[in-house]
Amino acid sequence: MREGHEGTGPGAVTPDGCAVELYARLPAGDEPDIIAAAVPAGAHILELGSGVGRMTHPLLERGFTVTAVDESADMLARIRGARTIRSTIESLDLGEKFDVVMLASFLVHTGDEEVRGGMLRTCARHVAEGGCVLIQREGPDYHTDVPRERTDPSGFTIRIASVEPAGKGVNSVRAEYVFPDAVWTQTFLARPLTKERFESVLAEAGLEADTYLTPDGMWVRAVPTA
Ligand SMILES: C[S@@+](CC[C@H](N)C(=O)[O-])C[C@H]1O[C@@H](n2cnc3c(N)ncnc32)[C@H](O)[C@@H]1O
Repeated sequence: MREGHEGTGPGAVTPDGCAVELYARLPAGDEPDIIAAAVPAGAHILELGSGVGRMTHPLLERGFTVTAVDESADMLARIRGARTIRSTIESLDLGEKFDVVMLASFLVHTGDEEVRGGMLRTCARHVAEGGCVLIQREGPDYHTDVPRERTDPSGFTIRIASVEPAGKGVNSVRAEYVFPDAVWTQTFLARPLTKERFESVLAEAGLEADTYLTPDGMWVRAVPTA
């Protein structure tokens, strides 16, 4: 387990505290539609931190080709219909370029700035000329509107139970996922990034924000710096 990260609940847990069985249950929501609207039909997408394929599978159904990368073999074992690669994101160097590179699930808020820089350089290294990088950022009140919870229509509750300073600009976030028959928790380190700071860390990796795809600014289309 990575320092500052912890996961509890049934089944295997990844080094960053994510539970495989939990992610196999979570619905995809509207994210595949946001992605599909932002990229060319039939694009080859390099999905970084794919987990069990919560987004991979709906993207395959929409006619995209997906190469899914995750450091967890337990997560990747659940993926069907996509090429899977077990690797840390920051060390990935496939020697290939993709129409679209996707870094979702707030991975850009990784606490370790070296790892974050490595992840963004991986995005830049793998995007084809004329292609784009899709990044999912935290919403504006992510670290301050706490505690908060949402009950999904399918019958479970997601709660951000606490956000505590953990030093050096990083917060320790505790999330709880309550299902009728099981409860999972994840504690993880997240670094808040203002829009300005987000854009400067993109620039350090040779990327620039091209379009904020959603009104809340959470989904961003970035391109290599000209
Ligand atoms: C919060 S889960 C989200 C999974 C998927 N994107 C989704 O939306 O369902 C984060 C995933 O990223 C993976 N991950 C986190 N840090 C990673 C890293 N540095 N390199 C590779 N995989 C990583 C974890 O193993 C986990 O499967």
